[in-house]
Amino acid sequence: MTDSALSNQETWSLLVLFAASVAVIANTFQGDGEPLVSSLAFGGVAFSITYSLIVWLKGTFMKANLKGRDMSKVKKVEIPETMGGVCAAVYLLLMVLFMPILFYSDIKSATADLDPLDLENGHIQIDTGRVLHRFPLGKLATYLSAMLSLALVVILGNYDDFFDIRWRHKVLIPGVASMPMLAVYFLTYGITHVVVPVQLVPYLGEMVDLGSLYYVYMAAIAIFCPNSINILAGINGIEVSQSIIIAVLLLINDMVSLSKIPGTAHPATDLHLFSIYLLLPFIGASLALLRHNWYPAKVFVGDTYCYFAGMVFAIVGILGHFSKTLLLLLIPQIINFIYSTPQLFRLIPCPRHRLPHFNARSGLLEPSMTEWQQPPSIGTTWFLNILARFPLLPLIKLVKDSEGHILKSSNLTILNLWLVWFGPRREDKLAIEVTAFQLALGLMGLFIRHELALLVFSQDNRA
Ligand code: UD1
Ligand code: MG
Repeated sequence: MTDSALSNQETWSLLVLFAASVAVIANTFQGDGEPLVSSLAFGGVAFSITYSLIVWLKGTFMKANLKGRDMSKVKKVEIPETMGGVCAAVYLLLMVLFMPILFYSDIKSATADLDPLDLENGHIQIDTGRVLHRFPLGKLATYLSAMLSLALVVILGNYDDFFDIRWRHKVLIPGVASMPMLAVYFLTYGITHVVVPVQLVPYLGEMVDLGSLYYVYMAAIAIFCPNSINILAGINGIEVSQSIIIAVLLLINDMVSLSKIPGTAHPATDLHLFSIYLLLPFIGASLALLRHNWYPAKVFVGDTYCYFAGMVFAIVGILGHFSKTLLLLLIPQIINFIYSTPQLFRLIPCPRHRLPHFNARSGLLEPSMTEWQQPPSIGTTWFLNILARFPLLPLIKLVKDSEGHILKSSNLTILNLWLVWFGPRREDKLAIEVTAFQLALGLMGLFIRHELALLVFSQDNRA
């Protein structure tokens, strides 16, 4: 068996999963397409295809020079890079194939008493074509806009993997890519009001209309999500594992919200179902990628995966009208971003890579350090010293010379901070712990959202 072939056991397991999933999908056409059941089966299809394609394409990617060096290993071997592109491509194509299932019952009811070829009875006007009044075009537009925004971001991720685009050039592109779905938001929903916390109601009233600022806020979410996943990266598995946890938390949020909605006619029902349809195949494709990217990684995911995953979350949050809940599930990413800002805005030198340092002797990861070519200014030294002497837990590690001048400071990512706090550890242990942290904070966020929201807001907009 070559490295680019599936083992017998893999082949049979994947074939069984694929065949069972396809059988489930085919069976749903007996009824109304059953999008929910089909979506779960699409997750199975996404897993089996992504898993196999990654194995089959590894060699091709290496030959095309799409490879990267795993820096946290004794032998810094090169492995295929940008495999998240395979994951994203499989996902996008499957989501196109999912469309007939999603709209099956709508198409059936919109055309129920129409003969599709019936020109004579006036159902189809030869000069204007036909108009299916009962077909939910808004729902179709929402779905298509989501796919377009996602595809645009995947293209950006691919270019970034090929050409290493500069941060300042690429950072705003997801905002532009979000415009199709913002346009659909404007046309189908258009609410730009935010509910004011009860404590502020006497001053601001129950609602505040943010107007066009609300669109800026949503574009900012589309910019933040992909970039924040990309900068919480650099150890095997972490990009995918954090994304799977966020997706699972969003799924839990959908299920809890659906369970609170009385009946099925509530508009929020469709929004949460839409979110579930997008997330299940995403989780399937991501699990397959994680299997290959987990320590010791056989492939890297590339920026393509980080942008792709972040945009899936932005789409689900924006089009599902629960962007604030989404932010509650991204707390580690928000902390990592805020913590990174001094380096992102070059107040502190930012090396090309900030991933933790691999100590070849111990085989463990340690905080990576950025070297100061010249001692930092008085203000920066004061700031760094405050971070280093923070009560209870230091927020940075410093190396100084005998006169107290700062020579090195640890890179400002939560991966490095974790190592500053808890000491050196193996790469997979760090990934497991940070992923568990993501899960714990996310579950807490959901608890706050669903159990404590009424302390802050006078009504739960889903109930
Ligand atoms: C972002 C981070 C950078 C971090 C990098 C790691 C910022 C501003 N940028 O940059 O600090 O070093 O991600 O992904 O925070 N790699 C490993 N092991 C892994 C994953 C990646 O060694 O588990 C290395 C490989 O050499 C791989 C490269 O990182 O080829 C990928 O880096 P890339 O995604 O291009 O970096 P950026 O996204 O630009
Ligand atoms: Mg990256």
